Amino acid sequence: MIAASHTLNMVLIGPPGSGKSTIAEALIAERGLTLISTGQRLRAEISARSRIGRTVERAMQRGDLAPDSLMDRVLRAALDQLDVQQGVLLDGYPRTLRQATGLIGLLADHGRTLTIALALDVADDEVVRRLSGRRICEGAGEQFPVHVDDLASMLRCQECGGRAVQRDDDQPEVVRQRLSVYHGQTSPVIQYYDEQRLLCHVDGRGTPAEVARRALAELPVALERAA
Ligand code: AP5
Ligand code: MG
Repeated sequence: MIAASHTLNMVLIGPPGSGKSTIAEALIAERGLTLISTGQRLRAEISARSRIGRTVERAMQRGDLAPDSLMDRVLRAALDQLDVQQGVLLDGYPRTLRQATGLIGLLADHGRTLTIALALDVADDEVVRRLSGRRICEGAGEQFPVHVDDLASMLRCQECGGRAVQRDDDQPEVVRQRLSVYHGQTSPVIQYYDEQRLLCHVDGRGTPAEVARRALAELPVALERAA
């Protein structure tokens, strides 16, 4: 029996290009969660030329992490906006042990506890394949993902007269650095959640729909445990 009272608060961890944001879309649609993507928020700050944006721009261009203290502020501000009944999905936070331990207090300050940490498992060579071909169509209306190997997405982009742009940090040397940062600084977070008994590994291979199905299948048990 799943208690309705526990608000679902989840984190999604995985290497760059493992499909976090793709799977996040399916999870928030299915479970009515609010998405907090720290990468997306930082890119918006950079576009707005805000103080935060100017502080993190160089690190992001290099493929390094933004400072923990700044990320705590970004996350706190995002949580401040939400009703406590509203479940959240954190895409790309935490990425360091310091963020992971800090998250406990941040959530508690907002009347929340973490329900589950999903780790998307994808091998480095697949990540490089996905990111080297990734483009984002900025032509008309809503942005959508394009991959140079996916003819249908390339044609859709052409039809809307769009520009398929590459993320600055998808350049090969930056992808290598992001991967190295992931293995050095973020992998310990997976071990940490394993010790906290909050971790579920999800095989990130296969179609996005298959991966989303696997991720969704992990939620009932986690909710039951949290109730
Ligand atoms: P962020 O924007 O979070 O980037 P990332 O974690 O490096 O990962 P991506 O967003 O590139 O990949 P993804 O896992 O979301 O995969 P996606 O679904 O797009 O962060 C950017 C930067 O911000 C960081 O490097 C750091 O500098 C900073 N930052 C952010 N959070 C921070 C924090 N907490 N602390 C400090 N700094 C922080 O998929 C990738 C591609 O693969 C797409 O083309 C997609 O269509 C395709 N794809 C997805 N799933 C599949 C599938 N199953 N099969 C085939 N293709 C697939
Ligand atoms: Mg993403």
